[in-house]
Amino acid sequence: MGKIILTGDRPTGRLHLGHYVGSLMRRVELQNSGEFDKVFIMIADAQALTDNADNPGKVRQNIIQVALDYLACGIDPAKSTIFIQSQVPELCELSFYYMNLVTVSRLQRNPTVKTEIKMRNFEANIPVGFFTYPISQAADITAFKATTVPVGEDQEPMIEQTREIVRRFNNTYGPTLVEPEVLLPQNCACLRLPGTDGKAKMSKSLGNCIYLSDTADEVSKRVKTMFTDPDHLRVSDPGKIEGNTVFTYLDAFCTPEDFQRFWPDYSCLEELKDHYRRGGLGDVKVKKFLDSILQQKLEPIRNRRSELETDIPAVYEILRHGSETAREAAAKTLAEVRRAMRIDYFDNDDLIKGV
Ligand code: TRP
Repeated sequence: MGKIILTGDRPTGRLHLGHYVGSLMRRVELQNSGEFDKVFIMIADAQALTDNADNPGKVRQNIIQVALDYLACGIDPAKSTIFIQSQVPELCELSFYYMNLVTVSRLQRNPTVKTEIKMRNFEANIPVGFFTYPISQAADITAFKATTVPVGEDQEPMIEQTREIVRRFNNTYGPTLVEPEVLLPQNCACLRLPGTDGKAKMSKSLGNCIYLSDTADEVSKRVKTMFTDPDHLRVSDPGKIEGNTVFTYLDAFCTPEDFQRFWPDYSCLEELKDHYRRGGLGDVKVKKFLDSILQQKLEPIRNRRSELETDIPAVYEILRHGSETAREAAAKTLAEVRRAMRIDYFDNDDLIKGV
């Protein structure tokens, strides 16, 4: 059996550098590696609605933003199927059957959901749909028989939950579903890229994101005000690397070629860090270096994005076509699921004859 990728994002905003190093960059590499038979990239609008039920406009508007970000980063519709979750109703059906295989207490233990509930101040008013989204995510993954799910670290508990559901399903109804594996970023800094203010997570409401679609000026401004070592007051002072956002970003983005191109005084990041630790190296210089690296990365993405923006109907056409392809694949799995569960009443002569 071939290798299949499924992954996706909630369309609640434009994608930022955290998405890029956490998952997007890897998806493009995997897509181009030729190792996978199929690649499905899903815009998870139904999941986004689980905590935005009163704001469907926001979700709707961001579907196109996320699609533009995907395409601009190099997701190629000739190689990957980009689709919209809500346009594949088989996913809802599958979720409904999976709900019988998961306990409330198991959902309550999911660390990502726990954190999200706290972040959103739901307290006693957790929407049922939100609480159960790990089940729907298991449906997203298994409907496509995905073997591989490249995501950020925070999604790991969802994949674990999916694997449990698969085992439970296959034990109960016979081998039908595929247990997926998670693929996390290899680079430590990429696992969880902090916001530009040094806070743990990039978030729109904190205003600490660098978006893939930001202008060159916006990027420079964010880098200039980035959190560094608050005790590094004078250039001559020794500086700290740990918790210094500029260095975390360099860990995530910088390559030896960047030194050759932008800062030949140093040969590698370790050398630069040593100098910073010793003292005598100012934040402004390091930030300028980071800015050059980010601009070089983001410029082609930005240019491709503005080109794509000139033909929005073509982007919707990609999504429509992708959603049809995805639906066909999910429908095949659903037929197998119904057969395994013996609820394929009208397609099964044995059932009709009462065997
Ligand atoms: N939960 C993911 C996020 O918040 C989006 C998502 C929905 C997803 N279904 C998925 C990711 C299936 C991977 C696989 O970004």
